[in-house]
Amino acid sequence: MKIIEANGARIPAIGLGTYKLNGSQCVDMVERAIGAGYRHIDTARMYGNEREVGEGIRASGIARGDLFVTTKIWWEDIGSDKLFRTAEDALAALDVGPVDLLLIHWPNADVPLEQSIAALNQVKDRGLTHHIGVANFPSRMLEQAAAASASPLVCNQVEYHPRLSQEEVLRSCERLGMALIAYSPIGQGKDLLTDPDVVEIAERLGRTPAQVVLRWEIEQPNVGAIPRTSNPDRLAENLSVFDFELTESDRATLREMSRNRRRLVDPSFAPHWDER
Ligand SMILES: NC(=O)c1ccc[n+]([C@@H]2O[C@H](COP(=O)([O-])OP(=O)(O)OC[C@H]3O[C@@H](n4cnc5c(N)ncnc54)[C@H](OP(=O)(O)O)[C@@H]3O)[C@@H](O)[C@H]2O)c1
Repeated sequence: MKIIEANGARIPAIGLGTYKLNGSQCVDMVERAIGAGYRHIDTARMYGNEREVGEGIRASGIARGDLFVTTKIWWEDIGSDKLFRTAEDALAALDVGPVDLLLIHWPNADVPLEQSIAALNQVKDRGLTHHIGVANFPSRMLEQAAAASASPLVCNQVEYHPRLSQEEVLRSCERLGMALIAYSPIGQGKDLLTDPDVVEIAERLGRTPAQVVLRWEIEQPNVGAIPRTSNPDRLAENLSVFDFELTESDRATLREMSRNRRRLVDPSFAPHWDER
């Protein structure tokens, strides 16, 4: 497993996304994922499944120190009065001790950045999380957030796959020593996986389209990915991306594809995104 070293954090490059995993299926998938070798689990307050994620972690029997757990605080709860209390609620639901990484899930245009970043730092200073970071921050906002943060931010979790270049965010993350963690990394399992270029590479390398796309992501320095599956058979598939390589021309093909940007996650409260 590739480990991303980012401002003191050691983040396993592949993690299990858990959005839309709920109830006993969530408990089961988290337990199975850890059994299959996953060492990074991604949840969020908004997913409403932290309790089940925690239950799956405990059921797996893994030593807590061997697992990297991320949760996120919803953008409506990142004001200085709310962020800390919401983080306490998240930890109570997970019940696995402090998390490894706590993120602001989305920026909030009505809350001054310095305020939410100060509240995020307070959560770390009081021992609720080992590391802090953000999600869905465009590059300029990321630079401002990093400058305002007493403790280093270790990651920006953003949508990233071969249909959405993130040149600006990648450059900022690199400059700031941060990881870029790709969400919707296989394009939500939609037409990216039947794209003729992706299928051609997959067939030639004897891999699946999802593996090709994930490999392209994690081959980039400081990039990780958190594919989500509700299908136990796909857990191993999505993790088995460390024993093959793309060719230089495959990388160029996928990079070129990503210039033609098609964003999948773009809610009304999203910030003004980077152009490239
Ligand atoms: N920070 C944020 O704002 C944010 C936003 C979105 C997502 N996220 C995080 O990122 C995670 C992943 O993103 P996502 O769930 O949007 O999309 P994704 O991981 O790109 O795709 C998930 C979809 O792909 C299918 N799939 C999984 N493995 C596959 C494979 N090997 N071959 C073919 N299809 C496959 C899944 O179906 P099956 O279940 O049937 O396998 C599911 O429908 C989320 O779960 C969440 O943890 C964060």
